[in-house]
Amino acid sequence: MEKEKYYITTPIYYPSSDFHIGHCYTTIIADAIARYKRLKGYDVFFQTGTDEHGQKIENKAHEAGVTPKEYVDKIVGNAQDLWKSLNISYDKFIRTTDDYHERAVQKIFTKLYEQGDIYKGEYKGLYCTPCESFWTESQLVDGKCPDCGREVHEVKEEAYFLKLSKYQDRLVEYIEAHPEFIQPESRKNEMINNFIKPGLEDLCVSRTSFKWGIPVEFDPKHVVYVWIDALSNYITSLGYMSDDDHLLQRYWPADLHLVGKEIVRFHTIIWPIMLMALNLPLPKQVFGHGWLVIDGGKISKSLGNYKDPREYIKDYGVDAVRYYVLREVPFGSDGTFSENALITRTNADLANVLGNLVNRTLAMVKKYFDRPIKLTDQKTEFDANLIQSIDELDAIIAEKMAILHVSEALESIFDVLRKSNKYIDDATPWILAKDESRQGELETVLYNLLEAIRVCGIALRPFLPTTSEKIQEQINNDHEEPEYLKDNVYAVNSPYPLFQRIEVKDNN
Ligand code: MSP
Repeated sequence: MEKEKYYITTPIYYPSSDFHIGHCYTTIIADAIARYKRLKGYDVFFQTGTDEHGQKIENKAHEAGVTPKEYVDKIVGNAQDLWKSLNISYDKFIRTTDDYHERAVQKIFTKLYEQGDIYKGEYKGLYCTPCESFWTESQLVDGKCPDCGREVHEVKEEAYFLKLSKYQDRLVEYIEAHPEFIQPESRKNEMINNFIKPGLEDLCVSRTSFKWGIPVEFDPKHVVYVWIDALSNYITSLGYMSDDDHLLQRYWPADLHLVGKEIVRFHTIIWPIMLMALNLPLPKQVFGHGWLVIDGGKISKSLGNYKDPREYIKDYGVDAVRYYVLREVPFGSDGTFSENALITRTNADLANVLGNLVNRTLAMVKKYFDRPIKLTDQKTEFDANLIQSIDELDAIIAEKMAILHVSEALESIFDVLRKSNKYIDDATPWILAKDESRQGELETVLYNLLEAIRVCGIALRPFLPTTSEKIQEQINNDHEEPEYLKDNVYAVNSPYPLFQRIEVKDNN
């Protein structure tokens, strides 16, 4: 049977030499979802990339005394290196400076112009350069950009416009008929009530005040507005407007665009309208997640609360960072980042619950048997409960992942791990070991624990891929069934600690 496809994207990132842990958030979650879908047999296409045009980049390159292309070429590797160190399993990395993307964006613009969805006019308005966003007077907060709070400036120039107004009613109808399109629910209401219903103004989609962008094919003194350029990445990467669009046929529409809450607006207004105008189906879901914040505010270099995420990876290990990000923030809401919370989580869950269980179990197998372990016909009164939890786990995770409650999916795995530790305390293998007539029970207890570790180890694979692999190596078993098996044989390897306990730091 042909595998079902699953196309998942992160936003494409502004290339930067100072990514912080907040930037890793979208990508780690997307990676966990992509890996989960692969584990469940989907044909996954997972895409990320870099958003390299715009005035901001042009200004930075100018300050650095290099061309914009030289500037982005030099720092784009920083994103790729960071994703590598976080074990991000993307299938495609798109750069908006890639030739095929630039050509396709030009064709998209020309097509929309030729069919009358883009027209020429004059732009007068307020622009926030850092956010690359246009605002109307009424959208400003205290006269400043509502997203970043910085100064906006007035611009006036000949420009092209996209007819958002023409599609307003169709968009509202679509959103209302597809409740899963914008998630969580609160963001959907915000989009409809604050942005769409008050009336969509046509969007200025070209600029002449700077050069670093994709030139409009038929009027090259204009460059294409960065958001039109950037949003198109989701289809140009699949070969839209090229000679070979088999990937587009296979993977479009996207199943999930995972984005931060501040860019839901672009993905649920401009993007669907572009797609409607291009006569393409809309993505199945745009999920707007909350931010990782520090002391209630955004993480930023200028506030001094920034650290290169690779330092955390170096100090605590990649899976500790992944675990913290995936676990700490209820999906959809904001979550607070602190290094001490990362340490506390690592100690409490990864070292004490998971690491300890694996270590204790394998140490007991080595000590009491030092030969392959099988299920015996001797039982204890505590077995049934544990086996039931093992058997229910897969379905619980499926339910949580279907609504992207990644943190709860992880929590359900840790519930089984905690129950397994409790099972050890209840079944008291060290007492069984002293009694010659109870060796069968002892072997069953250790077998059940190994089954719990095996099933949890598989379940952890999308979230903590490195740890999952180490668990598999230690228990020396590659059975993939996500439920309790009766006929496994365990010839385990010597245990080594999966996680070291870390000292909490005084100063953060
Ligand atoms: N280039 C645009 C996206 C274009 S998509 C067609 C952009 N780039 S970004 O680099 O500023 O942000 C990339 C992602 O990182 C966004 O989803 C954004 O929300 C996320 N985050 C940046 N800082 C964040 C936190 N502190 N916490 C969580 N996510 C945050 O926007």
